[in-house]
Amino acid sequence: MKSCSNFGRYIVVEGLEGSGKTTMIGFVKKMLIKEGFDILTVREPGGTPISEKIRKLIKKNFLEEKFLVKTELFMFYAARIQLMENIILPNLKSGKWVIGDRNFLSSYAYQGGKYGVKDDEIDKINKIAIGKFQPDLIIYLDVFPEIGISRIHERKSSKLDRIEKRSLDFFHQVRNRYLHIIKNQKEFMIIDANQDLSSVKRLFQHKICSWMKRLYQ
Ligand SMILES: Nc1ncnc2c1ncn2[C@@H]1O[C@H](COP(=O)(O)OP(=O)(O)O)[C@@H](O)[C@H]1O
Ligand SMILES: [Mg+2]
Repeated sequence: MKSCSNFGRYIVVEGLEGSGKTTMIGFVKKMLIKEGFDILTVREPGGTPISEKIRKLIKKNFLEEKFLVKTELFMFYAARIQLMENIILPNLKSGKWVIGDRNFLSSYAYQGGKYGVKDDEIDKINKIAIGKFQPDLIIYLDVFPEIGISRIHERKSSKLDRIEKRSLDFFHQVRNRYLHIIKNQKEFMIIDANQDLSSVKRLFQHKICSWMKRLYQ
């Protein structure tokens, strides 16, 4: 794909809740539009009418039935397939750049690990869903769960969704998973997102710019 210069690029931003994904994506989108790039931003789960419906279902609190981790995994992948096939791939083919709020790494981080689905099983689902497709760059915003969750509390005060309500222990596990699996990715960057907003923005801008310089040199 990289040899076709008229194809767009796909950047994925990953990280815990409150790590600053939405904030940084908004910031980098503006920056790249100013530079003349045609940018589409998408979020997971979501981004198509069907995927947004699945998002609502995933985030809903069910008191009457246990939400199984395998069910959750398949639902994320169902939403991802719709978004990839119907939105991301056609836009990349038409030359747009796409910035994604999460992709498959989230599934390995949240539904994998000791209490979740084994990596080799997720590998199989991932292969059926997206084949060998890889983002051009994955940026992982690394935040301590305590800090990320307190930002979410400040933002929302009461109505946390089913996933945001999970224990601090769960988010520590997810962070460890991220730090472990990110290293297997082809093009990745880790940003310390514990710092204040302007420092994280500066780091983000610097990392994106240096990656783009390498891309075009
Ligand atoms: N580095 C930061 N320092 C302080 N607050 C931040 C920082 N990054 C994001 N925030 C704030 O924290 C909240 C969550 O950020 P958001 O971008 O929505 O995170 P995410 O999309 O990863 O859940 C928002 O209110 C945002 O303004
Ligand atoms: Mg967000």
